[in-house]
Amino acid sequence: LEKISINTAGHNSDILTGESWLNVMNYIPGNNVVIITDENLLGIYGHEFPPFPVVPVTPGEGSKTLHKIEELAYRLLELGIDRSGFILGIGGGVVCDIAGFLASVYMRGIRFGFVSTSLLSQVDASVGGKNGVNLGIVKNIIGSFNQPDFVICDPTMLLTLPEDEFLSGLAELIKMGAIMDSSLLREIEGKHSAVMKRDVPLMGSLVKRSVILKAEVVNEDEKEAGRRMILNFGHTFGHVIETNANQKHGFAVASGMVVAAGISMNEGLLSAEELKYLTSILGSFNLLKKFSIASEVFMEMIATDKKKAGKDISFVLLDKIGKAMIRKMSISRLAGSYDLIRHLL
Ligand SMILES: NC(=O)c1ccc[n+]([C@@H]2O[C@H](COP(=O)([O-])OP(=O)(O)OC[C@H]3O[C@@H](n4cnc5c(N)ncnc54)[C@H](O)[C@@H]3O)[C@@H](O)[C@H]2O)c1
Repeated sequence: LEKISINTAGHNSDILTGESWLNVMNYIPGNNVVIITDENLLGIYGHEFPPFPVVPVTPGEGSKTLHKIEELAYRLLELGIDRSGFILGIGGGVVCDIAGFLASVYMRGIRFGFVSTSLLSQVDASVGGKNGVNLGIVKNIIGSFNQPDFVICDPTMLLTLPEDEFLSGLAELIKMGAIMDSSLLREIEGKHSAVMKRDVPLMGSLVKRSVILKAEVVNEDEKEAGRRMILNFGHTFGHVIETNANQKHGFAVASGMVVAAGISMNEGLLSAEELKYLTSILGSFNLLKKFSIASEVFMEMIATDKKKAGKDISFVLLDKIGKAMIRKMSISRLAGSYDLIRHLL
């Protein structure tokens, strides 16, 4: 068990890696608790949930709506959850986003904690205090920054994850190595078969290393005014691939990382060998799916974001493997650079 602290605006949040989720009772109040989960997790783990009312949501992105938040708030009222209540989210990124947002707005905010069950949520979604829901097709546009009291990341829970969900989370783990720690990347590469078998001690240790890295960034820049942006490595192009090629988040981000690393090479930062190295690791885990998206489509969608920011894109590049940097780039420069490397995809 390792406790990693996130300290923001006077609030302390503990990420407990390697902790058994069966010890969750040690971290929550003895009453006035409600559990929010999804139907898959309820089916697999529900018989061992703590003895509190359970409100399940339908698995998947479709549950991340304001309407669902309203529905859940009614349930909490019916259950008599008051200002001293506690929401325990047990699930992946979708449950964490919903439970965290509900806890932030219900009665102007009540306490909450997570048992984080997917690899993506253990390394990313449940760490850092961002939560929220979608508005139509616009992702995560309504939400808040609010840290849970605790997050339990139990590596044994990864054993029941569907294969593509595991791989999708692995892409975010690889991203953390690519932007902050080349030795993490080397370990994932060197222990390929143990990773694929989801070896429990190994996965516990990789998640721990990744959470320490993310906590360092969040402690420095909770609201993403600067350094936290490096966590978006691969996401600018990744989001367009996710939407247009209908790929799972991590797979789309994996291809987005290859594009961003290729652009880093064009900018004179990364070497061709380093680009090849990152591409080969992602490929070895079958994370690189073919897609065909015209550069005009990319640029149009990226430009929509640009309008929001009102200036150039803050694009995340790799200075070298294990070190990211942010550079303001114009859409036309990005487009030109993408055209130079698209044959690699
Ligand atoms: N708030 C943030 O900082 C942040 C960061 C990254 C992603 N996200 C959000 O997270 C969501 C994606 O997260 P996700 O990939 O965990 O999605 P998810 O919560 O939908 O989980 C994926 C699937 O795996 C199942 N599952 C989860 N854990 C399981 C387990 N241990 N065993 C068996 N099945 C299990 C779920 O039921 C679901 O069907 C997206 O909505 C994304 O926007 C948020």
